Order: sequence, then structure tokens, then C-alpha cells
Amino acid sequence: MKTTLYDFYDEIPPDPGAMIESLRAFGYHLETSIADIIDNSISAEAHNIGIDFNWKGERSTISFIDDGIGMTEKVLTNAMRPGSKNPLEERDEKDLGRFGLGLKTASFSQCRKLTVGSKRKAGEIFVRCWDLDYINECGEWRLLKPDKENIAPIFLSLNEFKSGTIVLWEKIDRITKGTNSDNKKHEDHFLGQIDVVKDHLAMVFHRYLEKNTNLKIMINGRQVKPWDPFLTNHPSTQRLPMEHVIFNGKEITIQPFILPHRSKFDNDKLYEIAGGPGGWNERQGFYIYRNKRLIVQGDWLGLGFRKEQHTKLARILVDLPNSLDGEWRIDVKKSVARPPPLIRDKFKQIAKLTIEPAINIYRYRGKVAERSSAASFSFPWSTSVQHGMYHYSINRDHPIVANILQNSGENKNKIKTMLRLIEETVPVPLIILNSSNNPDKIQQPFEDAPSGELQMVLKEIWDSMINTGVSKKDAKKRLEQMEPFSDYPDFVKDFIQSQESEIRNE
Ligand SMILES: Nc1ncnc2c1ncn2[C@@H]1O[C@H](COP(=O)(O)OP(=O)(O)OP(=O)(O)O)[C@@H](O)[C@H]1O
Ligand SMILES: [Mg+2]
Repeated sequence: MKTTLYDFYDEIPPDPGAMIESLRAFGYHLETSIADIIDNSISAEAHNIGIDFNWKGERSTISFIDDGIGMTEKVLTNAMRPGSKNPLEERDEKDLGRFGLGLKTASFSQCRKLTVGSKRKAGEIFVRCWDLDYINECGEWRLLKPDKENIAPIFLSLNEFKSGTIVLWEKIDRITKGTNSDNKKHEDHFLGQIDVVKDHLAMVFHRYLEKNTNLKIMINGRQVKPWDPFLTNHPSTQRLPMEHVIFNGKEITIQPFILPHRSKFDNDKLYEIAGGPGGWNERQGFYIYRNKRLIVQGDWLGLGFRKEQHTKLARILVDLPNSLDGEWRIDVKKSVARPPPLIRDKFKQIAKLTIEPAINIYRYRGKVAERSSAASFSFPWSTSVQHGMYHYSINRDHPIVANILQNSGENKNKIKTMLRLIEETVPVPLIILNSSNNPDKIQQPFEDAPSGELQMVLKEIWDSMINTGVSKKDAKKRLEQMEPFSDYPDFVKDFIQSQESEIRNE
């Protein structure tokens, strides 16, 4: 009988020592690996999760306890296997897992000894342990199975819950190697990590931690409070229309937000907090949620936009179901997601539509602030503070105003009265309201005016400057800096060119 290629083989299981050391190199940070452990507790329907950083120098530990559904002995043993579930398997729509790896890769990225104890409702406590040093020593995949007498006391605290799970990290060499338990600096550094972890969890799980939800996370007795990237409760946050994209029969929802300008925050501290971990610039762009768990925390997804200062108020929420993991190339660490090629254009278009008004909000206010440094002739309006109150007045130094007043003869008083009336009745509250609600709907100076009209105003100002004794050279410079012509450089260029020969002959 003819043999086939598949009749003869050598069985080559991965070398345990080498393999398990490689599992350490997934590139997690402490906070991302802890988020992976929390994923599992949330998938197990926990309502209370406790994280404990316990300082003892190189013998320090980090432990996690949850009151989720727990695991039977069989499930626990399988859970410890690297690759405990096939990534192609369909998952419950609330499951935050995919690869059957997170518990192991996240833990080993930080520690050399991982012990998990678990208890199902009214069941016994079972414990399993991987010790990397021991695996290296014996060269076999030996998952330790402590008998009742050898179960560490910490796991007995599961008796306080109906069901739950404890994950214990020991030999956490990545952050404690070479430390001394008596060294205050070392201790401060170790405990300082708590803040970084707290901020990260507050961001990644904010939708699980918000008011009407049923999850509480405590780190060393301090509760993790949600950080909402979209400031949904701030009155000046703008919510643009929501978009729905159907991809492979599954729905993706996209909700763009424009965050409030700095001036809308009561103080600098609140503004800084709203920026989030890493700050405003870093935290702009798309926020991708997989089952409400944040996996991308502000990124333009390689769509051709950069993280610029003036686009930082644009944040876009994207909700993905876990059934699109493959298409979005979700990774084991749950830190990467890329839109599939077929919907990239749609995402690009939404990004553009969000960025434009976000720039307006950023610039509009910026421009007001910049005005004070400009020369006195540049703006038709000027701002002053009188008795602690802002006052807006028509700039008497503006060339047109100055010229009219100079040449108004007996009408001078009437013109002054008219200016005063206009100044006293500027509809400031209405302007503020309209511009903060619909900044993109505020017309820019001469935005829709026919070009002839702009040309006329330009000429008028030019003549006024010349009439009040400004040299043509200076008049040219002033026009280039003057509102609104600074927004229309081409117009000014053409006009100046027509005057150029005269200027040269001066
Ligand atoms: N805290 C927990 N409570 C109950 N079961 C858990 C807990 N942690 C892990 N498990 C079980 O262990 C399994 C393996 O977890 P692991 O994180 O390695 O993979 P995963 O969550 O299935 O997928 P991913 O690699 O994407 O995280 C889980 O599927 C779950 O059945
Ligand atoms: Mg997991």
C-alpha cells in the first residue's frame, strides 16, 4: 500500500523551558497585563475585584481577588494551559477573551510564579501553580497541584465568597529584581506603580465602572473611579451624529465627540484630568471598544492624520462586537485594532468631519487670546476690562474708523453716538451660546461675501491709511497683519501687486 506524507513523523512538543520563557516576551507593561487579568474577572461576571500590591522587596507579591463565577478543578487546570481555547471558537458576546493566553502571557510578563485558586458556588477551593524556575529545572510542563495542606493561606479567603477566583503573582522580577525591602526608595517606586495602574484601569474599564453599573475595583483599598474620555456630562461637549456601519453582517457604531475648549473648564486641574493619561495630545483620535472594554485609547489608526495640537479636541468612540476580532486584527494584549480595508474610507471620512469643527473650537478661542499681542490697528474690535468687567469696543485706531472720525466734520458726534450704541448692545450672551453650540455654523468674516465687496473694503482701508499719513510701505505691512485680510492672503497679494510699482517709486 502506498504511504502518504502524513504516515511518518516525529512528535516535537515545544521545549518547556524555552517556550515558557518566550511567553514572557509579549511586551506588556505592568498596567496592560493587570488589565488582562481584570478582563477575565469581568468575563466571569465579578462585581467586586480587589488588587493588592504587597511590598517585601524581591519577595513582593501582587494578588487579584474576584467574586465571579469561579472555576471547577477541570476548568482551572485547562485555564492554566497556554492556549486554553481555540481563538477561532465563537465566544459569548460578553466574553472579553479570545486567545486562551492572556492569564499566562500577562502574568509571566511580570512574574515567574503564577498561582490561581478558584471556587465555584458552594464548591471546594482548587489551586494550580506554574513556577518557571521549576519548569526550567525539571524540563517538563509540570503544573503544580498543591494538596490541602500546601494551599497558601491567601486562597482560603475565597471562603468569604460564594464563588470567586484569586490570582497570585510571586517572584515579580520585572519590577522588583534587585530591590531591598528596607529601602524606602524601592518601596516608593513599587507602590508608585499603583497610581499608573489605577489611571489605566479607570480609562480601560470606565464603561464598566460608571454609576449605574455593577462593578467595583479596589487597589490597596482605594477605589478606581471611571475616567470618561468624552466628558459626556460636560455641558460644552458636542456629540456629532452617530454613524452605523454594517460589516460582515455585524454592526459597528461610531460616535464622534468634540471636547470643550480649555476656557470651559473651571480650573486647570480639571482640564488636565480631562486630558487623561499621557495628556490631551496623546489622547485624541479613535477610541475603540470591544464589548465596552477600551482597547485603543486615542489613535488615528494609520488613516493619514497626525496627533497635532490643534486637533486634540476630537475624540471618536467606536463600538465593536467581539465577533469581528479577526477582521480588526485584535492582538493578545488587546491593545491593537485596525479597521479592515473595506471600511477605512468610511473611518477617514468620519475623522475628517470630526477634526474640522474640533479645529474651529481650538482655533477660534486661540485667536481671541492671540489678539492682545497684535498691533493696535489690526482689529476692528478691541477688548478691555473696565471695573473688572469685559467691554467690547470699536477700535478707534482702526484706519477706517480713524479716517471717518477725522473727516466727519459736524457729524462727528452723531457717529460717536452710533459707535457707542453699537458697543453697548453687542449681543455677547447670544454669540457665546451660538458659537459654543455650533462653532462650525458661525460665519467667518466675509466668508460668503462676493469678492468685489472684499476688494472694496480693502481699497477703502488702504486709502484711509494713506490719508492719515501712513507710508505705502507701512500700509502694505499693516494690511498683511490686519483682520480680516490676514485670512485672505491671496487677495492682499493681488492688491499689493497693483500698488507695488507706486511703492517702489516712493
Ligand atoms: N478570574 C477568573 N474567573 C473565572 N474564570 C477565569 C478567570 N480567569 C481565567 N479564567 C478562565 O481561564 C481561561 C483562560 O484565561 P486566559 O486569559 O488565558 O484566556 P482567555 O481569557 O480565554 O482569552 P485571552 O487570551 O484573549 O485573554 C478563561 O477562558 C476562563 O475560562
Ligand atoms: Mg483573558
